[in-house]
Amino acid sequence: MFSPCVVRRLDQLLANLGYCSRRDARAWIQQGRVTVRGKVVDDFGAKASATDVLLDGEPLDHPDGLLILLHKPTGLVCSHDEREGPSVYGLLSERWRRRNPTVTSIGRLDKDTSGLLLLTDQSELVHRLTSPKYKVPKIYRATLTRDLSPDLIPLFARGTLLLKDEASPCAPADMKILSPREAEVTLTEGRYHQVRRMFASQGNEVLALHRSNFGPLELAGLPAGQWRLLPLDSFPKT
Ligand code: URA
Repeated sequence: MFSPCVVRRLDQLLANLGYCSRRDARAWIQQGRVTVRGKVVDDFGAKASATDVLLDGEPLDHPDGLLILLHKPTGLVCSHDEREGPSVYGLLSERWRRRNPTVTSIGRLDKDTSGLLLLTDQSELVHRLTSPKYKVPKIYRATLTRDLSPDLIPLFARGTLLLKDEASPCAPADMKILSPREAEVTLTEGRYHQVRRMFASQGNEVLALHRSNFGPLELAGLPAGQWRLLPLDSFPKT
């Protein structure tokens, strides 16, 4: 976790916030581009808290961390591995992509799934919000190839549905039938391709999948491909 109160070396601060390499940071600092509490500091080994530092007269870019709400479009993966194709990280600025700790998604959405995706550099948030222990509800709208059977509602709610190659059954999931081939499913866990596999286990196929809500958050009109920043304390520990 990158806290503004923590005192760090100036070259490390700039490099970890994605401005440049450590070597370039040293050069920039020696060139007098960095001030600490209003005074030029040209010793790159000097330590300071991020909020006291200006680069070229500007405060540092979100030194205390990032929490990003993205409307993921279909066609992008949530992987950092470039071999998997274009990713959601390509929607962020280069500086944010270069940060250390790395900006990563909180759970994943499949390439063919759209909707609300959170990204952060706060590893504690990733662990907490993806842990089934915290039961953060996530709401999905699924469009199916076949008419929905109302029998799926109690089946998904029972918490006994065992998917192929899984050791434990899915946690109870709420399902609402919105139209003959459209359902809203609320999950409190995030297994691999879970919604698609739940329907597939009952002989139905998901044609389109969209996540509308993550805990208390919703997209609220945010267009696909766009993001907005959230306060870091959006998910206080209870
Ligand atoms: N379930 C899926 O099948 N895919 C997702 O992306 C999310 C949940």
